[in-house]
Order: sequence, then structure tokens, then C-alpha cells
Amino acid sequence: MSVNHMIANQEKVAAPPAGALFDRFGRRHTDLRVSVTDRCNLRCTYCMPEEVSFRPREELLTYEEIARVVSVATQQGIRTVRLTGGEPLVRTGLARLVRLLVALPLLEEVALTTNGLLLAEQAEELASAGLTRINVSLDSLSPERFVEITRRTGLEQVLAGLSRARQCGFRAIRINAVSVRGLTETEIVPLAEFCRAEGFHLRFIEFMPLDADAAWANESVLTGAAVRQILEETCGPLVPLAVTDSGQPAVDYAYADGSGRVGFINPVSQPFCDRCDRLRLTADGQFQNCLFSQAEWDVRQVIRSGGDDDQVAQLLAACVRAKQAGHGIGTEQFKRPERAMYQIGG
Ligand code: 5AD
Ligand code: SF4
Repeated sequence: MSVNHMIANQEKVAAPPAGALFDRFGRRHTDLRVSVTDRCNLRCTYCMPEEVSFRPREELLTYEEIARVVSVATQQGIRTVRLTGGEPLVRTGLARLVRLLVALPLLEEVALTTNGLLLAEQAEELASAGLTRINVSLDSLSPERFVEITRRTGLEQVLAGLSRARQCGFRAIRINAVSVRGLTETEIVPLAEFCRAEGFHLRFIEFMPLDADAAWANESVLTGAAVRQILEETCGPLVPLAVTDSGQPAVDYAYADGSGRVGFINPVSQPFCDRCDRLRLTADGQFQNCLFSQAEWDVRQVIRSGGDDDQVAQLLAACVRAKQAGHGIGTEQFKRPERAMYQIGG
């Protein structure tokens, strides 16, 4: 093939709709995960260290700064935002940020991932602010095991948060449970039964190498397939459901008797990088194109030095252009990122 041909072909492949966040592999990005704090009221072993020092307040983007960055991102094609942390509800007045985001005309959904400890107190205000969806992280229904995993007490508060959220009108509440071999096997069936009875949508997530203690090893991943096997032994066969949203990393199953569903997010055993539509904004104002990216793009510096919206847009476009094909966990080239989960946002 001649050089001219190659260039013409590349242009054909590479020409995205104006302004949209396409990367070099043709993936379009419509979801932005926004971390609002690195602080947390738990210390989950698969995420945080026991002793931790947090970023100084002035390094965090203000709510107005976040809303401005998200506004620019929506003009480039971002349609959904998920607020994360650390634990987002420990930051004062999160409902105010929700209101700022809900007011953005191009944004279709503002969701929240929380550990649920402060949800009972805040659910009502969040609902009236216009929050659309809630995911609650919960790995165990046993108070002792909860403490073992999170290094803190609080199971009762999480359960209260879940029922309050439901009372406040949140629908399709999800529960995310991280699966760690040797730690969470015994929690699988109780969680599944609880979620089926209460109508919560349970999803198991494989343990990823994002723990601050760097204890992760391939052997410590309890795979989605292993969890499914444990579930099927007790709850009967699971029937795969048709994928409804191609951007969703979860594979959902229905219980054979038709009541309820359960999902698996298998980033380690079945990477879904080829379908990834996510970008991230860390609490300290860095764009990231992947949980495992080694690079970050400093949007805080751009806005605090008087940069205009165009410069913000250019920075996000550069971040997207640099995105790698996949995380490469399990390959020789794989390098753990410097940030742990609480410093990125789940
Ligand atoms: N691997 C997988 N999931 C993780 N989470 C935190 N750390 C890890 C990890 N190392 C999950 C939390 C929550 C979401 C924010 O990320 O449990 O569901
Ligand atoms: Fe906090 Fe979530 Fe990390 Fe647990 S996983 S320590 S709840 S940020």
C-alpha cells in the first residue's frame, strides 16, 4: 500500500465527529468519574492504608471548579457523571455540587458511589438535588467481617442508609462487593440473599491492584467465575441476560426462578478495556484516562492560572488521545499506578 493510501485510510479511521472524545482505538468517551475527596470514613484493606495522610484542602477543586470542568467536558461529549471519593459524602455539602451538575444542559445523569455510612442523613437532600442513581459499596453483612475488611465499624449505618435511600425514591440501587480470595467467599451467599429479598442489584467486582498496601497478587483475585460457582451451588443456575448497555462493564445474570439478578464486573479475568467509555477527574484536579494510567493531565493548574474553556477542552482531548488500549494486568509490562483507589476514584 502506498504512503498516500495509508494516510488516507488513517484519516478515514481517525476522523471522529467534531469535538467528540474519541481515542486512537475508536473508543468514544461519554462517562466521567469525578472524585470529590481522597478522605474516607472507612479504611478498606483493598483500597487504603491503615495510616494515611490526605491532600490539603486547597489542592482539591472547589465545587464551582468541578462544575466548570464538567461543563466543558459535556461540550465534548460527556453525558454521565459519577461522583466518587474516597468517600464523597464526607465532603461538606455534596448536594450543592449535585445541583450545579444537574443544571448543566447536556448532562443526562449524575450518579454517586458511596460506602453508605452517611447516606441515611443525606439521601433526602441528594434526591431533591436531582441525583439520579446510587451505588453502595458493601462486602459483608457480618459485623465482624465488615470490621475486618474496612478496619472500622459501621455496618448498621450502611444498612440504614440503604433503606433510607429507597424511601427517598432512589430506584435500581446497586450494591458493589469487592471479591478477594480467602476473605469474601463466605459473604457471597448472604449478600445475594439479602439483595434478592430487598430488591437491590448486586454486583461483584474483582479485586484490582489498586490497594495502597500493595498486597494484591494474581492469586488474591476471587474471579467472577469463582463467585458465580459458589452462588450457583446455593441459589441454583444463573441465566445470562442480554447486554443492554454496551458501555457497562458488568455481565448480568438472572436467577433461574426469575426473581432478581446479579452481576459480575471482571476487570482482571475478563478485561473490558475495548469497550471502555470512561475518563476520570481526581479530587486534586487531574484528568486520567484509566485507573491504571501512569500519566495525568493537570486541569487544576490550567484553570487556576487563568486558562480558558478551550484550554480545558484541549487538555481533556490530549488525555484521551494518550489512552492505552488496555490495562495489561497480568502481563510483564504491567506497572501498578502510583495512586491507590481512594486517590483516583472508583
Ligand atoms: N479492587 C476493586 N474494587 C475496589 N474498590 C476499591 N478498591 C478496590 C480494588 N482494589 C471499589 C470499592 C467501591 C468502588 C469505589 O471501588 O469497593 O465499590
Ligand atoms: Fe473508603 Fe471506598 Fe476505599 Fe473503602 S473502598 S476505604 S469505602 S474509598
